[in-house]
Amino acid sequence: MDKRAIGIFDSGVGGIVVFKEILKNNPNENIIYLGDTRSFPYGSKSKESIVELTKKGIEFLISKNVKEIVIACGTATSQALDEVKKLYDIPIIGIINSTVEYVKQKKFKNIGVMATVGTIRSDAWKNSILKQIPNANVTNKACALLAPMAEEGWIDNEIAVLTIREYLKELKEIKDLEALILGCTHYPLFKNVIENELKNNVEIIDTGEILSKALRKDLLSKNLDNKELNPNYQIYLTDTETNFKNVASKLLGNIVENLKLAKI
Ligand code: DGL
Repeated sequence: MDKRAIGIFDSGVGGIVVFKEILKNNPNENIIYLGDTRSFPYGSKSKESIVELTKKGIEFLISKNVKEIVIACGTATSQALDEVKKLYDIPIIGIINSTVEYVKQKKFKNIGVMATVGTIRSDAWKNSILKQIPNANVTNKACALLAPMAEEGWIDNEIAVLTIREYLKELKEIKDLEALILGCTHYPLFKNVIENELKNNVEIIDTGEILSKALRKDLLSKNLDNKELNPNYQIYLTDTETNFKNVASKLLGNIVENLKLAKI
């Protein structure tokens, strides 16, 4: 039993989608969230910049005495997770491993991945999938505009529909596509639009949903879970002049009422 909080890190509002899922499966846990809104978007940055920014985020959460850190960002997971795991003596998990485990369990072979430009450039999803499922066909699609649109709250308007339609063109042409991984944590905000556009039996995979169950197991196995039910939530941003509150409050309601400024 450990009452310390879980730290969640993202560049913006995408990690809030993961936060919501974590609440469902880990209702007793205290949570400290850090959104690096000052440096958003991560998706268009170099690996070196992403590693540096992720290190700062992790150090901030460690300074808040968290017991485990969730990198709720596909871009940071794909390019910085391995590096930060070597540097810090605290459990750190990202969004890729648990999702690939799930894909393997479901025996999917024909898999699409939508993610940021940086994540796709890193080939992290493809490499992890092929390690677990050597005969898989992985089709990548970089979607530069989606995370900024999600931050803006443009998740179900006409522009969102047209943009998603354009990004899905190639993926829709794949005959036996079985699963589509939303490889950026901002993308589940577009899930309804994506579902409507795909109009078939492709399973749309939300990494936060899978990660939150993996986190629960991880906490229990390490005896790090909190048994008391009186959780406290704190949300820090590196810049509060953003649209974050509007989008995040649709997912978490009052929890986003008091945003704090993180000086990192
Ligand atoms: N939520 C992020 C991800 O999962 C980052 C989007 C961005 O900062 O570009 O990749």
